[in-house]
Amino acid sequence: MTQTSKQDHVLIFDTTLRDGEQSPGATMSHNEKVEIAGLLDEMGVDIIEAGFPIASEGDFEAVRDIALNAKNSVICGLARASTNDIDRCWDAVKHAPRGRIHTFIGTSPLHRDITGLSMDEMANKIHDTVTHARNLTNDVQWSPMDAIRTEHDYLCRVVEIAIKAGATTINIPDTVGYTIPRESSDIIRMLLERVPGADEIIFATHCHNDLGMATANALAAVEAGARQIECTINGLGERAGNTALEEVVMALKVRNDVMPYQTRIDTTKIMNISRRVSQVSGFPVQYNKAIVGKNAFAHESGIHQDGMLKNKETFEIMRPQDVGLAGTSLPLGKHSGRAALRAKLDEMGFALADNQLKDVFVRFKDLADRKKEVFDDDLIALLRDSGAAEQNERIKVKFLRVICGTQAPQSADLILEIDGVEHQKTCEGDGPVDATFKAIKELFPTTARLQLYQVHAVTEGTDAQATVSVRLEEDGKIVTGQSADTDTVVASAKAYVNALNRLLVRREKSAPDADVKTVKYTDAG
Ligand code: KIV
Ligand code: ZN
Repeated sequence: MTQTSKQDHVLIFDTTLRDGEQSPGATMSHNEKVEIAGLLDEMGVDIIEAGFPIASEGDFEAVRDIALNAKNSVICGLARASTNDIDRCWDAVKHAPRGRIHTFIGTSPLHRDITGLSMDEMANKIHDTVTHARNLTNDVQWSPMDAIRTEHDYLCRVVEIAIKAGATTINIPDTVGYTIPRESSDIIRMLLERVPGADEIIFATHCHNDLGMATANALAAVEAGARQIECTINGLGERAGNTALEEVVMALKVRNDVMPYQTRIDTTKIMNISRRVSQVSGFPVQYNKAIVGKNAFAHESGIHQDGMLKNKETFEIMRPQDVGLAGTSLPLGKHSGRAALRAKLDEMGFALADNQLKDVFVRFKDLADRKKEVFDDDLIALLRDSGAAEQNERIKVKFLRVICGTQAPQSADLILEIDGVEHQKTCEGDGPVDATFKAIKELFPTTARLQLYQVHAVTEGTDAQATVSVRLEEDGKIVTGQSADTDTVVASAKAYVNALNRLLVRREKSAPDADVKTVKYTDAG
């Protein structure tokens, strides 16, 4: 494989399960790692760095099982510059249809000091360990750790040694997130120009985010000739993290006009895997995180919402659907304008006359001044005076009592009012929320599938209001119900019922003889 024959293709090397898992507190269980690797493979990641096999028995087993389950991705393991590490790594990755050994050593003066090796001694070690790895497999990656702070002449020398010893990928790590885009590209360009054999191998870029430039640095390296980007889902990783997979992949997709490189990634899988990694690592995604943050496709200001309602391209450079979201979110808050309020009410099934809207808008602004975000329940409360809300709440929660605790079975006793008639059901479940949802489904059966159940604490403390979101999908139509209560189970029941009410509105709207109004936007969830 030469640099020139693959000019337009960039390999995606995901290290969520190795570098990402090294983030303090991000430890994942064996099954979680195998599950995440399956998702990465499915989304089109070229190489999955599955772990550091010599680090522990658990790490070894995880890498081995990921290798055993691999479909299309190359499975890679990390190894220090020692034959024991390399042998252990190969024992784990050899089970994959395609396995890779990634061996590394710190080459900067600081790291040479720690190892106590002279430049020549380290050069010999690199030759011996890469040769050893190459005798086990013909897919060997070598990294000079802290490459960015390594003297250029020495970096060229050791890269040449690794290539001659059989490395097929040379990774240039910015281990401490110290570089800037211009330097990142200059180093790759220098290596391609100065190192004999450099055009025969793949250069990779591995950037940490200590100065917030990991993605920019990775893309700059690609522009100079690197053809493998090392990255993690949600940018997970040591300290400030790594280049985020979703950022580089979407940047290459959206700005293909100026960076004409392709990846194999199915971007519609991004949101799902981002959420799953956030759950299993316990690292929440910041709201304003590029691509995968809750606000990445949300618009609150009046001007933005109005623009979005007229033409989505005014304030969105990519479609939410491209990353696997149902649509744009126009959360209502104090900056929202009349157009967004009307669109939201429309979506909820309330077609208000102009004078009614004027009145509701005044009361909405008053509420929004006092409240961070105005939820559907708040709007329904505002509308109640006009009588419009009632017709939309065909299902209501009238009574709920749950039995929960350490002693199974947990159960829920529920009364729903459906079209004015009360119905009662008691169900057992795997926890109180599960029991409650089962009771709702028994009382009001639908083919809707639960796509998302999310609980957020609005305030701190044990008396915090829980806001629950429930997303249901039926025949491709997605609705989101929300509710807030100090009792999480009550909020969950009401959110589910709220979603069902909205589903009923949707069904009516899409019935062939209904006065159909196009619903343009759905919640991002
Ligand atoms: O950041 C780094 O230098 C690394 C190496 C092990 C490649 O993660
Ligand atoms: Zn790293």
